[in-house]
Amino acid sequence: ITKRQSAPSIRARKGGEKIVALTSYSAGTARLVDPFCDLLLVGDSLAMVEHGLGSTLSATLEMMILHGASVVRGSARSLVVVDLPFGSYEASPETAFRHAARLMAETGCGAVKLEGGAHMAETIRFLTTRGIPVMAHVGLTPQAVNTFGGFKTQGREREQWAAIEADAAAVAEAGAFAVVLEGVVEPLAAKITQNLDIPTIGIGASAECDGQILVLEDMLGLSPRVPRFVHRFGAIGEAVTAAVEAYAEAVRTKAFPGEANVYQPKAG
Ligand code: KIV
Ligand code: NA
Repeated sequence: ITKRQSAPSIRARKGGEKIVALTSYSAGTARLVDPFCDLLLVGDSLAMVEHGLGSTLSATLEMMILHGASVVRGSARSLVVVDLPFGSYEASPETAFRHAARLMAETGCGAVKLEGGAHMAETIRFLTTRGIPVMAHVGLTPQAVNTFGGFKTQGREREQWAAIEADAAAVAEAGAFAVVLEGVVEPLAAKITQNLDIPTIGIGASAECDGQILVLEDMLGLSPRVPRFVHRFGAIGEAVTAAVEAYAEAVRTKAFPGEANVYQPKAG
């Protein structure tokens, strides 16, 4: 029996063996990826990937709870982290605590994630001092797409570095056990990773980070278009298309179900 990873065990990996993380939205995929991962994120990207919504801003607490509980049931060894959805944590530390506590209690997850740097430090401290481990998320933060005016790689201009470095330092100082660095240029990711005493988990932020995360559907080849930072490790979309095509053909030509798939009464 392998013990499940915890927020402290992930934090202790700083500078050591790379942290392997993927998103998972359900028990079915969790079962497949859990043996190879340290951390499973029930990301609010599920609003787009799993529910066909236009942005992550449409994710709701109810959705995160339903999918989070499913992933916890389907996994045994990875730390399960559930995203606090847009609107559930920004207004005040108290609001964040109430919703994060519901996520923890109703899913059994081991930590929550929220987006934002220095301006979220007070909330991160409020949660972590009250029994809720927090993974932070800085750099490109998709819930802020409307104030960013699109998804833009962070730190292309050197003048942007200080603010992003300050965000990373603030969330670490506030007690986050790890921080997702998203869409950040390589040398800035390297500098932040060197200067923080908590692990950085990169997505579009180079191999300089202490770990990596990708959206599972993107790396499996299930997403129609993927950003440059994704490597497609599989071609599952093509495999599904081929299998469904073969099934449809077999049904229409009556090749399926065949002898082997049919029940018969007892002989005699
Ligand atoms: O929602 C998500 O999938 C994320 C990532 C870090 C991949 O937040
Ligand atoms: Na997210």
